Amino acid sequence: MSSQVLNRYLRLSFLLLAATLVLLTLPALLYHKNKLRYFSSDGRVDVRPRKLFHLLPINSGGAGPLFCKVLMSSLVHGYSPIILNWEAEGDGSYMQRLKVAGVYEFLLGLPGSEELDVVFMTDAWDVWLQLPPAVLLERYDEYGSNMVVIGADMVCWPNDWEEPACREVPESPVPEIAYEELGNTPRWANSGTIIGTVKSMKAVYSDLIVRLSEKAATDQGIFNEFLHQGRITVDYWSRLFWVTASNVDSGTIVNTRHPVSAAKDDTIPYHLLPPMLYHSRTGEYPVALHFNDHVHKHLLDEWWGRLWWTKPGFKSVWEKHLESGTAQFAHNGSMVRWEDLCGDTSL
Ligand SMILES: *[C@@H]1O[C@H](CO)[C@@H](O)[C@H](O)[C@H]1NC(C)=O
Repeated sequence: MSSQVLNRYLRLSFLLLAATLVLLTLPALLYHKNKLRYFSSDGRVDVRPRKLFHLLPINSGGAGPLFCKVLMSSLVHGYSPIILNWEAEGDGSYMQRLKVAGVYEFLLGLPGSEELDVVFMTDAWDVWLQLPPAVLLERYDEYGSNMVVIGADMVCWPNDWEEPACREVPESPVPEIAYEELGNTPRWANSGTIIGTVKSMKAVYSDLIVRLSEKAATDQGIFNEFLHQGRITVDYWSRLFWVTASNVDSGTIVNTRHPVSAAKDDTIPYHLLPPMLYHSRTGEYPVALHFNDHVHKHLLDEWWGRLWWTKPGFKSVWEKHLESGTAQFAHNGSMVRWEDLCGDTSL
């Protein structure tokens, strides 16, 4: 072989090798973490983005500044909230029960093809979101598939302490030393923040709805039983949800210079050192902040204006997300803009 022919031969082999490598890695490159692949019935592989539903149960009579703050945190961070029970009328305890019914009704209304989509329910008065949906999904996936994950509470309530659902729930994997001064680590259920695939939520909610018809039953009490039975888990690290009751001094607002997740995020302006809530006991930036105890409801006013997406100084950043965001009413499917729901409410 002359050296010219050899050169040509080598070049050709190299090109072939390169082409083979590209073809082999292409599927992996096209596969995004937030897209689900599943086999459709005719055997084709479909790829479609996984949906995340942020459910907010609230009736129009209960809406006001607190709800608008919650809604704003959802819209600014790019969620597409769905409002449940808007037309309902009743007192607090009736609405509390209806919260479960509203979620269950929503789940039943979804077509079967959506079983691997993710449903995320938060209380509509006192839960603020501070990280975008991609981060929530990425962290939810750390729990493995088909798990219902619920906020971790410092206390077992309203169950009796003598019940196995209080005494015998799993120990927390968080080292005790992290919560040394408080004497215990959160390991019971708090029903104000819940996430799960449609499939897992349907299974849990269909039993919840039956149990809730019993006298004096509460959703949180039943969730503690489910926790004890191993049907759900709680978010021990406050990586998804920070439940503030008896745990409020774990939270500090800090200017945050580096992205807290590798998930794609075009919302949080890290280059401007945005103030965000940091959980100093577990070293996490929780996705959702749940101001659940009555003693610290004042933080819903005091911290409004301290987190970056509540500060006028950052308005040019958050305003565009708010203006383009819409919520949807579950009862009639109508979309509603922030301006129309909360435009006249002073926060
Ligand atoms: C859906 O419900 C909302 C709130 O009650 C109402 O403002 C809206 O007009 C309704 N949309 C339709 C199409 O009926």
